[in-house]
Amino acid sequence: MPKIVTLTEFIQSNQSDFPYATGELSRILNDIVVASKIVSRDVRKAGLVDHILGSHGEINIQGEYQQKLDVIADEAFIREFRLGGEVCGIASEENENFVAFTSESAKNGKYVVLFDPLDGSSNIDVNVSIGTIFSIYRRISPVGLEATLDDMLQSGTQQIAAGYVLYGSSTMLVYSTGNGVNGFTLDPSIGEFCLSHPQMKMPENGRLYAMNEGNIFECEEGLRKYINYCQSRENQTGMPYSGRYIGSLVADFHRNLIKGGIYIYPDVISAPKGRLRLLYECNPLAFIAEQAGGLATTGRKRILDIKPEYLHQRTPFYVGSKKMVEKAMECLGL
Ligand code: AHG
Ligand code: MN
Ligand code: MN
Repeated sequence: MPKIVTLTEFIQSNQSDFPYATGELSRILNDIVVASKIVSRDVRKAGLVDHILGSHGEINIQGEYQQKLDVIADEAFIREFRLGGEVCGIASEENENFVAFTSESAKNGKYVVLFDPLDGSSNIDVNVSIGTIFSIYRRISPVGLEATLDDMLQSGTQQIAAGYVLYGSSTMLVYSTGNGVNGFTLDPSIGEFCLSHPQMKMPENGRLYAMNEGNIFECEEGLRKYINYCQSRENQTGMPYSGRYIGSLVADFHRNLIKGGIYIYPDVISAPKGRLRLLYECNPLAFIAEQAGGLATTGRKRILDIKPEYLHQRTPFYVGSKKMVEKAMECLGL
C-alpha cells in the first residue's frame, strides 16, 4: 500500500508553490480543514440531533430561509478565521455586510476569505449532498488596519487560493493555489483528509448537462438552442446527453469536474442576473475549473475578469468542460 499523504503534509510540502511562501496561507488552509471537519461531523449527525436539521427561523440577506446548518457552518468557519490570526476579514453568504476582525493580530492579517458556508441548503433536509465554497485573497488595504470593502471586491483573477468541501457520500476537500487542482477525501476513522485525487483534470468534453430545466421557458432563445443540441443526436456523441441536476452547485460541479459536463445557471425572468453569487460561488469554482482545464463564463465573458461592484452580486454561470462551455456560448450567439 502506498504511503498516505494527508492534507496537512501536502500543504506543508507544497508551501513553496504559494505566491507568498510564508506559511500564513498554509495556516488559513488548516483553519478551513478544521472548520470543515466540524461541519462534516455535524452534517453526519443531521436527522439525529434536533438542533442541526431544519429551519433556523431567520431570513438571510438573499431573502432565503436560513437552515440551522447554514448558521452552524457560518459560525464554525468564522470562528476559525477570527482566531487564526492570518485573516483580517471575511464575507459570507449569510452575512449582509463583510466582517472586519478587530483584534490586533487579525488587523495584521494579510488575507481575506469569502465563502458560502453551506451550499445547497435546500438539500439538507432530504439527505442530499451539500458543500462549502471558499475563496482567498490578499488584502489590498494597509496591514495593521481593519479590512475594507475593497479587500472583498477584487476580481477573481486575484484569488490566491480557492476550493470547496463536498459533504457527499464521503467528505472531500478540493482546492487550488494556482498550481493545478488536488482532491482529498476525509477518512473518518483517522480524522484526516488524505490525497485521493492528485492533479485533477476536467475532461475537455462530456455528455452530462446540468440546468434547472424548470426554467427553460424563462431563459433566452440561444440557451434553448443549446439544450436542444444536448438532447439531440447532433452532438459529438451521436446520442442525447444525460441530464443531471442535483441542485447543490458544489455537487453538480464536482461530478462534472470528474466525469466531464456543463453546469448552467442562466439569467432567467425571475432572476435577471442569474441566481448564483459571483464572489463566493462562481469565482472560486471558476478558478478551480480553469486550473483543471475547464472554462467558466457568464455565457458571454470570463467570470474571473468581472470587476465586482457589491458583495452579494449575482451572475449567470456557465461552467464545465471547455468544449461544452464553448458550444453553449456559440449557441448564445457569440
Ligand atoms: P445556497 O444553498 O448556498 O443558497 O445555494 C443554492 C444554489 C446552488 O447550490 C444550486 O445549484 C442552486 O442554488 C439551485 O437553484 P434552483 O433551485 O433555482 O435550481
Ligand atoms: Mn450556494
Ligand atoms: Mn449557502
